[in-house]
Amino acid sequence: MHRFNDLADFSTAEIGSLLELAQRLEQYPEPRALEGKILSLLFLSPSLRTLASFQAGMARLGGGSFVISPDMSIHGIETRPGIVMDGAAAEHIREAVPVIASYGDIMGIRAFAERRNLEREVADQEFEDLAELVDVPLINMESAIQHPCQSLADWKTMDDLGVPKAGGRFVLSWAYHPRALPLAVPSTTVKMAAMRGMDVVVLRPEGFELPEPIMAKARVLADASGGTVTETTERAEALEGAHVVYAKSWTSTRHYGDKVGDQALREELIDWCVDEPWFATAQPDCRFMHCLPVRRGVVVADRILDGPRSVVIAEARNRMYAQMAVLYRMLKG
Ligand code: CP
Repeated sequence: MHRFNDLADFSTAEIGSLLELAQRLEQYPEPRALEGKILSLLFLSPSLRTLASFQAGMARLGGGSFVISPDMSIHGIETRPGIVMDGAAAEHIREAVPVIASYGDIMGIRAFAERRNLEREVADQEFEDLAELVDVPLINMESAIQHPCQSLADWKTMDDLGVPKAGGRFVLSWAYHPRALPLAVPSTTVKMAAMRGMDVVVLRPEGFELPEPIMAKARVLADASGGTVTETTERAEALEGAHVVYAKSWTSTRHYGDKVGDQALREELIDWCVDEPWFATAQPDCRFMHCLPVRRGVVVADRILDGPRSVVIAEARNRMYAQMAVLYRMLKG
């Protein structure tokens, strides 16, 4: 395994094998498995969970890691191609990435979407351009359209909790947020739940449709796994019988890159804050999932986050075990 980029690059059997490995490493630690190996982590965008869980996971396997981010005391990094570098930035990403990669045995890169060109970002062009500069195994730690580590951890969390695969109803719901957020988590999540064989419902207001290539891919994955993928604007219809409500805010695809248009649409949607009445016709033990960070009282009510439905801390903890399995498989086979 040379790249961990898109769950859909793998068969469900391969994902199952990774999840078994994650479970094994959780129950039976192997503190010397990756002794002598170095993980290099480039964060071009902020993080709490991804940064901490990769470093902790690598240490638990006996390896080492280092982090580079623009917030550190490094030379300013220019990312634009073909630019005359007569401004503040002293180093170009085209040198920085291969240099960082050369210090480690495996590399992770995080680079969020710029949210300017939907077609280019659905194609994940910026990440693909960075990946070409790396000649060691590479992990996508969240790009414009992928967040495979989050989805692997979410799949594990549902397995741990016994959430049904076939016949399990998974509602990916848009939620209000004051800012336009990237498409990576919802795009990866809809594919993950489809691959898991669930009946996936994307609940979102008009103007917040997920990109059609993502929905089409999710439908193909669902066909292969025995699941389904539908979308609706109707909350009551979506939530009926739900086993999971996975909340996430994302940018308007109708107004992609247009802050004013997006803002005008979203300011009418402040009531899209997940709260107990949403669960009236869901399964009694319907779970609440979110990748974090989450805005309390904006995306979701405190009583949901603090109550028995919420599994957000388990999801975050499973990031570490899921990524340990990925590191182990990529470095040890
Ligand atoms: N869910 C997630 O990726 O969290 P961070 O942005 O804190 O890494």
